[in-house]
Amino acid sequence: MSLEGRVAVVTGGARGIGEAVARVLAARGAAVAVWDLNLEGAEKTAATIQEAGGTAIAVGADAADAAAVAAAAGRTREELGPVGILVNNAGITAYQPFTTIGEDAWDRMIGINLKGPFLVTRELVPDMLEAGWGRIINISSSSAQTGAPAMAHYAASKGGVIGMTRALAIEYADKGITVNHVPPGFIDTPLVRQGPVDVEAVAATMPMKRAGQPEDVAHAVAYLASDEAGYVTGQTLSTNGGRYLV
Ligand SMILES: NC(=O)c1ccc[n+]([C@@H]2O[C@H](COP(=O)([O-])OP(=O)(O)OC[C@H]3O[C@@H](n4cnc5c(N)ncnc54)[C@H](O)[C@@H]3O)[C@@H](O)[C@H]2O)c1
Repeated sequence: MSLEGRVAVVTGGARGIGEAVARVLAARGAAVAVWDLNLEGAEKTAATIQEAGGTAIAVGADAADAAAVAAAAGRTREELGPVGILVNNAGITAYQPFTTIGEDAWDRMIGINLKGPFLVTRELVPDMLEAGWGRIINISSSSAQTGAPAMAHYAASKGGVIGMTRALAIEYADKGITVNHVPPGFIDTPLVRQGPVDVEAVAATMPMKRAGQPEDVAHAVAYLASDEAGYVTGQTLSTNGGRYLV
């Protein structure tokens, strides 16, 4: 499943799942633009890819800011060419009992996790329409599938991502563009390590008795980005080690 000749954008590619996605797409031949708020981290990811013989650039960008997204897209097109693969991965989380969620916290969550993918997709989809080929993969969350306490704003944002995925899948079904989402389960990343969760204890409750690794998600994304996945759209490819069965 070669991605040779494709240009990919991975938002939030400085660390965690996004870093692994960027590496795996590049290993399959895609030229990858690593977008992140954290430019230093994005540069590290790009350097790792280049050291392995791949093509990558690092772009410092807030994926939830329309002007920054337009600038990042411009640089990406200039240096790598039109974008065919988009992985909307950048996101934040928070744990707050429902009645303590303030409007600011709600708006920030929706702004980054849902408006961000809207802005980035709206910016890049014209490249795909022009080419008659595109792959959009949204990183959603098992929290939107199962529900999760103290995460109403997070689950709502990811539920929105799932709805947008399905709407765009139909809108672009006859344009050569597929749109799918990957809901990770419990993946061992800096985001999870920074939360109030005992990673080893939760991992022990999983059917596979382990947390997922970022690469587990990255390989699912790489499949959806491939030519071979061309008849798969609007779908959910859960990477959760059997924790939740659709
Ligand atoms: N780790 C898990 O268990 C898990 C489970 C379900 C869903 N997810 C989702 O997977 C995605 C990646 O999660 P992770 O665990 O790798 O997180 P992470 O915090 O380790 O990495 C997220 C990256 O996104 C970047 N980022 C955040 N906001 C940004 C913005 N506005 N613009 C550009 N970059 C931004 C951060 O700088 C960081 O590099 C998120 O959307 C998250 O909600 C993760």
